[in-house]
Amino acid sequence: MGRATGVPLSARDRSFLDRAVAIGRKGWGRVHPNPLVGCVIVRGDEVVGEGWHAEFGGPHAEVVALRRAGKRVRGAEVFVSLEPCRHVGKTPACSGALIRAGVLRVVYGARDPGEKSGGGSEELEAAGIAVLGPGLSDREARWENPFFFHEREDRPWVALKLAMSLDGFLSDRAGVRTPLTGEEATTEVHHLRAGFEGILVGTRTALVDDPRLTVRGPVEPRMRPRRILLDARGRIGSDARALSWGNGEGWVVTTAASPAVWREGIQERGGRVIEVPARPDGRVDVDGMLLRLREEGLASILCEGGGELGVELLRRGVVDRLYLVIAPRLLGGNGVPAFPVPAAGAAGKEAPRGVPWDRWRPGEAPRLLGSDLWVALEPEA
Ligand SMILES: NC(=O)c1ccc[n+]([C@@H]2O[C@H](COP(=O)([O-])OP(=O)(O)OC[C@H]3O[C@@H](n4cnc5c(N)ncnc54)[C@H](OP(=O)(O)O)[C@@H]3O)[C@@H](O)[C@H]2O)c1
Repeated sequence: MGRATGVPLSARDRSFLDRAVAIGRKGWGRVHPNPLVGCVIVRGDEVVGEGWHAEFGGPHAEVVALRRAGKRVRGAEVFVSLEPCRHVGKTPACSGALIRAGVLRVVYGARDPGEKSGGGSEELEAAGIAVLGPGLSDREARWENPFFFHEREDRPWVALKLAMSLDGFLSDRAGVRTPLTGEEATTEVHHLRAGFEGILVGTRTALVDDPRLTVRGPVEPRMRPRRILLDARGRIGSDARALSWGNGEGWVVTTAASPAVWREGIQERGGRVIEVPARPDGRVDVDGMLLRLREEGLASILCEGGGELGVELLRRGVVDRLYLVIAPRLLGGNGVPAFPVPAAGAAGKEAPRGVPWDRWRPGEAPRLLGSDLWVALEPEA
């Protein structure tokens, strides 16, 4: 991407660009692996057309906004969260559509890194249109479209989401599930799930909570996320709810240590068994697991706990974003910790045992959902 900061924008330009970014988010769960894109067309200070990329393979944001603006587009300004595309793919190139529409000026948010699709701004400039961008910094662009800008082949983009009490616990005590957060936060979690290709939980979470890991919220996902249970040794029953429906969307990630008869039981229920390398202590090798999930075609994973698996991912430096949903409750010292400190030895002789938090920062302002606090953090690059 290559720009720590975006080009300087006036307050007016910034506010229309922010609006374009905000409406682009309406495509969440429906457009991936394409990026979220929003577009606002303005004459003077009046918005004459708005659009967003709403469906994978469907019209791009600019095309929708141009249609809505109709004749009023001639001589207008266009604010679009991603550089208008140049290539002719499933839909005609947006740069060409903007040139034909006779717009005067284009302000774009993030540069399109695509070999074929990038370069739309040069094409606009060559046609005499004033172009300003990228108006978003690298960090802002990645925040909006993390999967799109995630270019690694060794692992999916990974988010960790945990609901916890004020004193940092996931549940009241070992072996029990403690519902912590309210309806608004639950709805937001289902909205979040809709945009991911896989949802992963650790063995004890699978055993204790038996989560369904389905999306039951306002957005019907274009691709239902794979429901992935971690189980190195084969302890989870084949009647686990995440493996229901026998449609191959429930996966169990295991190691060579799990018994053949257990694997057969999972497969008979329609679950998929995926064998990955084990660590010397018999647990799942997290890097090997993530590589395999990437090879299976998953570009994004949402891990929903528990604490042990979450800390392992954090300590390995493979968490790209952390969502903490903090309930205004105290659970006391017998709870299951959100961030357990691994036992001495488990972390390796020299390695610090706790999570290295020094690079982590909030990526946006915390939000109050009902009485729960929703905090999203990411490590600084
Ligand atoms: N509030 C929330 O958001 C939330 C979310 C999830 C869970 N929970 C609660 O948290 C509790 C479970 O969390 P937990 O921290 O005890 O367990 P967990 O993280 O769900 O599972 C940990 C287990 O996963 C297995 N595992 C295999 N490979 C691993 C690896 N590389 N790193 C870490 N674990 C690996 C290990 O079992 P083996 O030794 O058998 O391999 C390990 O004991 C439950 O009470 C649940 O209700 C709450």
